[in-house]
Amino acid sequence: MKLNCHDYHGIERLERTFIQGGVNMLGIVFTEFVEMVEERFSDDVLDDVLDTPDLSTSGAYTSVGYYEHTDMIKMVVTLSKTVNVPIDDLISAFGEHLFGKLVARYPVLVEDQNNVLDFLETIDSVVHKEVLKLYPQAELPKFSTERLSPDQLQMTYRSKRPFSQLALGLIKGCAQHFKQQVEVSYSSSDTDDYYSTTFVIMLSYDG
Ligand code: HEM
Repeated sequence: MKLNCHDYHGIERLERTFIQGGVNMLGIVFTEFVEMVEERFSDDVLDDVLDTPDLSTSGAYTSVGYYEHTDMIKMVVTLSKTVNVPIDDLISAFGEHLFGKLVARYPVLVEDQNNVLDFLETIDSVVHKEVLKLYPQAELPKFSTERLSPDQLQMTYRSKRPFSQLALGLIKGCAQHFKQQVEVSYSSSDTDDYYSTTFVIMLSYDG
């Protein structure tokens, strides 16, 4: 998979969200993040992450709870400093990991699908709609899509949370799930009210 990163989302951009205040986020995202840190790094790294100052809980997350999304950002910042990996790379890697976990939890949502672009087109109108039925308090991002060609999908992310890199990772995880190669390019155009990123996802047959 080849990624063309036209934009760097640094810590300053992420920290803007602190000013806007927390938006509650479903616990699954936190418990999966904690598990990924434990699996990919170590117990010591996880201890550092859970010791991040000013978390809304003392690091005790349950999958059905709701927590401030700023906790996730604070923990990713700690992780980045601890393991010396850029924040964007960590959030995107987490998205890839998370996709597999979400599919394992809700297999029915991918059951009849066999094409990554067709599936991505259903995130807003089917997948996240079903998620909202299960968890009415979930604050999900909005996606609008345009099929530019049979092999090319434009997908625009809009959210109060600065998690476009999570979306990028989820897109990559999705392509892996369907065993398809994609090239993804993206550019962001945030406003004062929303974070917005437009992705162009192209099927690639390079092998
Ligand atoms: C079977 C597939 C999927 C399921 C079951 C699923 C479900 C969920 C759930 C439960 C959340 C947390 C909601 C909350 O924070 O309260 C979430 C958030 C999110 N989802 Fe999905 N999702 C799926 C696929 C995708 C894909 C493929 C993308 C990317 C295009 C995506 C993009 C996001 C993003 C970026 C968030 C974070 C919230 C935000 O940015 O505002 N999801 N999703």
